[in-house]
Amino acid sequence: MVGTAHPNTGVEGVEGGVGVTALMVAAARAIETHRHDTLASDVYAEHFVLAAPASAAWPVRIQQVDDGDANPLWGRFARYFGLRTRVLDDFLLRSVRTSGARQVVLLGAGLDSRAYRLDWPDGCVIFEIDREGVLAFKRGVLDGLSATPKAARVPVPVDLRDGWVGALADAGFDPAAPTVWLAEGLLFYLPSAAETYLIDTVDRLSAGGSALAFEVKLDKDLMEYRDSPLYTSTTRQIGIDLLDLFDREPRPDSAGGLAGKGWSTSVHTPFDFTREHGRGPLPEDNDALAGNRWVFANKPRP
Ligand SMILES: C[S@@+](CC[C@H](N)C(=O)[O-])C[C@H]1O[C@@H](n2cnc3c(N)ncnc32)[C@H](O)[C@@H]1O
Repeated sequence: MVGTAHPNTGVEGVEGGVGVTALMVAAARAIETHRHDTLASDVYAEHFVLAAPASAAWPVRIQQVDDGDANPLWGRFARYFGLRTRVLDDFLLRSVRTSGARQVVLLGAGLDSRAYRLDWPDGCVIFEIDREGVLAFKRGVLDGLSATPKAARVPVPVDLRDGWVGALADAGFDPAAPTVWLAEGLLFYLPSAAETYLIDTVDRLSAGGSALAFEVKLDKDLMEYRDSPLYTSTTRQIGIDLLDLFDREPRPDSAGGLAGKGWSTSVHTPFDFTREHGRGPLPEDNDALAGNRWVFANKPRP
């Protein structure tokens, strides 16, 4: 183990613990998909939501939500996930096209269906790391739909709090080739030591020309926003207490760490992209999104 004991230990699938957050993001993507002004289309998302007992009764269209866009969870928070999906879709496709990298690693992939959704260049291989139960549920749903990936897809069932390099190597990952990495909605669930290990490992396994995007929360004290509509509505409406699932240790400065290793980095608020796309959340009082940052990093070629 690279981390310490953690409340999500022991729950492996999407039925509870941190795994159920993958269903929450899938529901948000389903809602985004059905919007007339959608930023990202994911036709698989609603199938995951409807297939899992934990989420079968959740909405997959904003019209199914009584207060619609005024609902903090299915309105504003879902729009956040829709925006995040679009921005990171763009990052991944731009990175493989401009760098020539043909390896993509999705860390904490959850129910991310990008291997099936995006138009990958020929020769791409997508490694999806998550825990066994989450990947098994995902496989069952996609097999049931006879879905066909648009790139080679390699599930890697492993816990990111353990040493995960061996599992990735056994799956065929090549550290000599440039890689595009993504940690979307992941790092704040990991113990601080596991995040540091993950960032150090990404650096070690990245040939020049590699790229990484990840999401962090910079809040000094997560509990400062415990009464925010976003957290309270998520707990009340779907029984997910995000503050209970987030790791509460002080976070490492992962963007700074990568810069110190020679990567070029840029750090954005989600609101930067709301303004760019003309849709998405904007800052508000008592805002659980206030500390969220999306970090983009590139490792120079030698
Ligand atoms: C909020 S979901 C995000 C999923 C996906 N990246 C997305 O944005 O749709 C968090 C994911 O991280 C995974 N995760 C959390 N802790 C993990 C760990 N220790 N090892 C592997 N996966 C983990 C969960 O199983 C879940 O699928």
